[in-house]
Amino acid sequence: MPRIFKNEAALTPEYIPSKLPHREEQLKQLETYFSGFLESPGSMYPKVVLIGRPGSGKTVTSRKFGNYVVRSSERVRYVHVSCFLNRTLSSVLKDIGVQLNIAIPKRGFSTEELLKMLLDMVRDKDIYAIVALDDVFHLVNNSGPHALGTLIRLGEEYVSRGDKYRFGLILISQDLTFRDQLDRSSQSALGNAVIKFEPYTKDQIFEILLARAQEALVDGAYDEEILEMIADVAGVDEKSMDEHRGDARYAIDILWRASKLAEMKGVDRILPEHVREAIKNTLRGIRSDELRMLPLHEKIFLLAIVRSLMKNPNSPYIPFGTAEDEYQMLCEQYGQEPRKHTQLWEYLRDLNTKGFVETRTSSKGMRGRTTLISIPSEPLETLKEELEKIIKGELGT
Ligand SMILES: Nc1ncnc2c1ncn2[C@@H]1O[C@H](COP(=O)(O)OP(=O)(O)O)[C@@H](O)[C@H]1O
Ligand SMILES: [Mg+2]
Repeated sequence: MPRIFKNEAALTPEYIPSKLPHREEQLKQLETYFSGFLESPGSMYPKVVLIGRPGSGKTVTSRKFGNYVVRSSERVRYVHVSCFLNRTLSSVLKDIGVQLNIAIPKRGFSTEELLKMLLDMVRDKDIYAIVALDDVFHLVNNSGPHALGTLIRLGEEYVSRGDKYRFGLILISQDLTFRDQLDRSSQSALGNAVIKFEPYTKDQIFEILLARAQEALVDGAYDEEILEMIADVAGVDEKSMDEHRGDARYAIDILWRASKLAEMKGVDRILPEHVREAIKNTLRGIRSDELRMLPLHEKIFLLAIVRSLMKNPNSPYIPFGTAEDEYQMLCEQYGQEPRKHTQLWEYLRDLNTKGFVETRTSSKGMRGRTTLISIPSEPLETLKEELEKIIKGELGT
């Protein structure tokens, strides 16, 4: 059988490629901002904000910088915390503890006590680390700006306990709205160091794809034109202000799906038709790793929304009640105890803030006022399959 892949892992979201085309500048800036801390750890508390749209390379650049930190310093470590997974200060502190190999109790302590324990331990063990808080708006949205403010103002804490500055801070976000929510003293402690990640142009996406294809695919399996075809739909161009464009994740996902299709069809190269089909099947605003991280019942509720929308193909919206009924049915099917009405509202609010669904209140004409739900920008069939796969895996059925 003809082979398409030589290293499929190079097309997965977690993969850190050896080179990051078009992010050399951002890497250099990170190195510069932290050079003082790396040269003499403890002398300062550097803080930098990385901003850019999804898929603009913030996470991978920060992790790449993490590799540099570990390579270039014997003393400083790098800790990458996902605030999508850790939405409270105590959960962030515990995750930092785990990554630094510090035993922090799982429960029974207040956030202040946890913070104190962490600071005691890094002092006693003489640890220095650069901490990246990824997608930090989740922390701010869920726990309020105070949680983040506490981390930003750790400097005062060190001074009052007579310790050196133990951490450097990288905050990763889509924009700067989180900064406006902070109180004044946290804002000024944060400072103005911002590194921007512009959305990728078509040419840049093409070069990123080419580098990935060289690592992941066998030589004859793709033409450069195939990569150009993908770059055309994924890269930004002046005419379209599509906010999903410039997203390298989307481009790489299409390449992976097209490669999979070619492999499944048993041919020896990726054809335009495979790319077309891959584009049709690729999620845009929703990332499958974020989907995976939702609580089980939030996933089931989202699946209920998707299925209700598919059952009503003539209407872009379904009422909340319809999704709720569908959810009850799904729970029965999966042998799950359904969550309460109020919890489903919480899920809906969360799905909405994450941009997975859109909601609006019904206008006059309908009986009463009811909340309407839609999913305007994703292929429902793909979303349904993806969710069913993840839920099945989680239930072990
Ligand atoms: N300059 C680049 N070179 C190679 N791969 C990249 C580059 N920028 C982004 N990627 C890849 O695109 C995907 C999305 O990047 P990511 O860093 O997760 O974006 P963000 O965190 O800004 O949403 C990842 O798979 C990443 O490895
Ligand atoms: Mg990211």
